[in-house]
Amino acid sequence: MKSEAVLTASGLSKSYWLGGREVAVLQEVSFCVNAGETVAVVGVSGSGKSTLLHLLAGLDQPDAGSIVVAGQDLSALSDMELAKLRNRHVGFVYQFHHLLAEFSALENVALPLMIGGTKKPAALEMAEAILERVNLNDRRDHHPATLSGGERQRVAIARALVMNPEVVLADEPTGNLDEESADQVHDLMLSLASELGVSFVVVTHNTGFASRMQRLYRLHGGKLEVER
Ligand SMILES: Nc1ncnc2c1ncn2[C@@H]1O[C@H](COP(=O)(O)OP(=O)(O)OP(=O)(O)O)[C@@H](O)[C@H]1O
Ligand SMILES: [Mg+2]
Repeated sequence: MKSEAVLTASGLSKSYWLGGREVAVLQEVSFCVNAGETVAVVGVSGSGKSTLLHLLAGLDQPDAGSIVVAGQDLSALSDMELAKLRNRHVGFVYQFHHLLAEFSALENVALPLMIGGTKKPAALEMAEAILERVNLNDRRDHHPATLSGGERQRVAIARALVMNPEVVLADEPTGNLDEESADQVHDLMLSLASELGVSFVVVTHNTGFASRMQRLYRLHGGKLEVER
């Protein structure tokens, strides 16, 4: 199971059109993530890191190339099937937490379960277990506005993990945090990866964190270069 690919991208190309001019962002990028692997993606601002993660999550479509997640080719899926695949198999963590302000930490974590059809009492129970794992059980009733930045990101990680996905995609999850909170979140992601066998693909500007990931890629000039 361990060496099985959970995500494969082949020959991905993506351009944006601005004022009749083509901006080529990704050019024939190929990429593979095995079960339980931790992968860092680095690159200067504008190199296409967010674009790549959005394609991998099926949030946007490539101009060319294919993406297979959990054995399914994204281009063959309807919008509903894609939403279902994202719900079941992919977790996403953003730079800004994207938690829903009107819900508590516990409810935010339980939402993907309820969207996936789990009844509320069972969903809350499962959410509680994962909140405990990110050491936030005592903050379960807090709404996002009354959590610290690091706590919000830990809730976002719990939400990304609650469906037991094969892979979590994270776009600068600690870009907004002070060094100490960032390190806490980094430690948490690395220990969750090895404990749960979930793969992490993380875009980061933090070189210390990138060096602790098993593999390191750099986006440069539209190409994905393997650094390690
Ligand atoms: N919707 C869009 N329309 C036109 N151009 C876009 C669009 N989205 C992104 N781009 C351009 O594509 C390039 C890559 O953007 P992207 O957001 O993927 O970069 P990034 O590596 O994530 O940068 P950062 O580190 O600043 O987050 C940039 O030059 C950007 O201006
Ligand atoms: Mg970005």
